Amino acid sequence: MASIIYKNITKRYADGTKAVDNLDLEIREGEFMIVVGPSGCGKTTALRMAAGLEDITDGQLLIGDKVVNDLEPRDRDIAMVFQNYALYPHMTIFENIAFPLQNRNMPAAEIKERVRAAARTLGLEEHLDRRPKHLSGGQRQRVAMGRAIVRRPKAFLMDEPLSNLDAKLRVQMRAEITRMQRDLGITTLYVTHDQVEAMTMGHRIAVMRKGVLQQVGEPVELYERPANLFVASFIGSPAMNLVQGRIAETEGRIVCEIGSQEIPLADGLAGAENLAGYRNRKVVVGIRPEHLLDPQKTDPSLPGLAARTRLVELLPPEQLVHLELDAEPVLSTSALELAADVDKTSAQDLNLQAKNHRVNVVARLPSGRRYAEGETTRWAIDVAHLHFFDADTGEVLR
Ligand SMILES: Nc1ncnc2c1ncn2[C@@H]1O[C@H](COP(=O)(O)OP(=O)(O)O)[C@@H](O)[C@H]1O
Ligand SMILES: [Mg+2]
Repeated sequence: MASIIYKNITKRYADGTKAVDNLDLEIREGEFMIVVGPSGCGKTTALRMAAGLEDITDGQLLIGDKVVNDLEPRDRDIAMVFQNYALYPHMTIFENIAFPLQNRNMPAAEIKERVRAAARTLGLEEHLDRRPKHLSGGQRQRVAMGRAIVRRPKAFLMDEPLSNLDAKLRVQMRAEITRMQRDLGITTLYVTHDQVEAMTMGHRIAVMRKGVLQQVGEPVELYERPANLFVASFIGSPAMNLVQGRIAETEGRIVCEIGSQEIPLADGLAGAENLAGYRNRKVVVGIRPEHLLDPQKTDPSLPGLAARTRLVELLPPEQLVHLELDAEPVLSTSALELAADVDKTSAQDLNLQAKNHRVNVVARLPSGRRYAEGETTRWAIDVAHLHFFDADTGEVLR
């Protein structure tokens, strides 16, 4: 077992593409680290540099306390599990798992012991004499894992290993890989574009965009304290609601204007003093869907926003209430770029909302209560859970 450390790592491909830009990241010994980000953000490149399959343009890569930039892949003692796992169809499961040990002059008894131990961890003991074609997709994926485990490497590298599986199997394998990693305690770097995988599996998550690391933290930390608009939008489903706001002072109180409405900020908001420095400036206000509170249940004295119910999606035990706010969507260049990054269609939607001076937001509530479509109600807001971002840089304001 060992840590993996990226020290100011940059990768520039021969055609000039800068795929990874000055990456600083430490995967601690025994840690399960997820690298997540949209397609093309440099995840695979980062992983392949650790594996030794891609040259490093700049910076240092350490495994344990050893710089490995110039070490051949086979000398790095790490195992890689790919998206497209290739099993040998003519070999049994035992032989498939044992394969990486065969050309190492390892005594047959030890090979047998290691394959059995791996098969036990993965629940494949009964299938060792079978051939791959008799196994389900999930079992085959586990055989591919088994092949990585038997080597007892210092670390695992996994590149979207679940993306070829159907939805149900993916959920199951997600839990299995998580359990396996916890049982074995092997340092693991796992790459995915799926934020749900990221949130459920890793000890920590590193969010990347366009080759640049955005934030590293535990899942809850990224969810509750995103460092910028990108992380805020990328983590969480349905995504955080974003609305154009303006910080102002009325009668000595700091407020946030949203459209023609006003939310007083001083009460219950940590860092309200910092926001005071943004007086008379535009900000981006972020509201998670669960922080728009049930209008029929909450204290009417709480700050709130009037919104029209467009559509209710029942999904017991929850419902998503789609609302329309009389306000401006976030339309800075960076926000549009971001919308395009996170969801290819939403930039167009945003322009339409802007034209109508409306913003679509989503509230997430327990199912049960009924919200009439077309009706306007006042939705209470838990001010302590609001997020504010600089409208130009997208950085969070704290
Ligand atoms: N061999 C290559 N030559 C040139 N550009 C590449 C090569 N491989 C990847 N890229 C580019 O580098 C960027 C990062 O790619 P990649 O690491 O595959 O991202 P991800 O795994 O996050 O989808 C993309 O812009 C991609 O087109
Ligand atoms: Mg990739």
